[in-house]
Amino acid sequence: MGGRLKGRVAAVTGASRGLGRATAALLAAEGAIVALLDLKSHWAQAAADEIVAAGGQALGLGCDVSDREALIATLGSVNDQFGRFDVLVNNAMWNVYEPLADIRPESLDRMIGVGFSGVIWGMQAAAPLMAASGGGSIVNIASVSAFLGIPNGIAYCGVKAGVTGLTRAAAAELGSVNIRVNAVAPSTVDTEGVRRVVSEDRIAKRVDQTPLGRLGSTDDIAKAVRYLACEDSDFVTGQVLTVDGGLATALS
Ligand SMILES: NC(=O)c1ccc[n+]([C@@H]2O[C@H](COP(=O)([O-])OP(=O)(O)OC[C@H]3O[C@@H](n4cnc5c(N)ncnc54)[C@H](O)[C@@H]3O)[C@@H](O)[C@H]2O)c1
Repeated sequence: MGGRLKGRVAAVTGASRGLGRATAALLAAEGAIVALLDLKSHWAQAAADEIVAAGGQALGLGCDVSDREALIATLGSVNDQFGRFDVLVNNAMWNVYEPLADIRPESLDRMIGVGFSGVIWGMQAAAPLMAASGGGSIVNIASVSAFLGIPNGIAYCGVKAGVTGLTRAAAAELGSVNIRVNAVAPSTVDTEGVRRVVSEDRIAKRVDQTPLGRLGSTDDIAKAVRYLACEDSDFVTGQVLTVDGGLATALS
């Protein structure tokens, strides 16, 4: 266990699996008390139980990030329970790839609600708590899709590009209360979810296009979030840290 976040209180949204789960585990391993938020409290609690079994401090909470009031109440309860609030990782996303002609209002609304509005609601809920704690760090999970054109990904690319823009604006606004706001932009990460929906051929092509010759791992992303969450990055704000093995650079 490291101690870079000892005494800090953090929340990670969409934390019951994938990148969010790995990030929550790494922040806890650095000494943070971590609230794992997900749509169902028992999903989040199962992930939190694993962290506790490994010696960390964690709790699982049910919260739909597209519900502003629920997010304000949930982060407020974390702050009340532990007496401070320092780190928020806006990771939750709901996504479907659809060609332009097939984009449905309900899928677009949900993607924007979770992946864009949910990030703003998270920052809105967290900022006053962090300011009262003397400052904090917000890390928004974007994607290289914010910079690249992905076929059938108009909505996803648009939402993630939006996340990079709101990150810079929030950094400019919240610096005066010592809150840093940054984003991490991963390329394809090797998760069960990705393996389920992306064909072997496409994964092989992505590996081929990546100078470092592999997909990212959930740990690669968690380590980037840890850097932005802790004091190692305490003069860094408004940045989008691309974690992609060189993919976007090589393609540009
Ligand atoms: N996996 C990748 O290859 C990859 C690449 C680039 C960026 N990203 C981004 O990283 C983040 C995590 O990706 P992942 O692959 O681990 O995702 P995932 O789909 O495996 O997990 C997302 C989590 O968010 C939760 N969630 C969905 N809607 C929610 C809501 N309304 N409220 C609360 N929680 C909700 C889900 O239940 C799930 O636990 C996302 O923002 C994604 O866009 C992922």
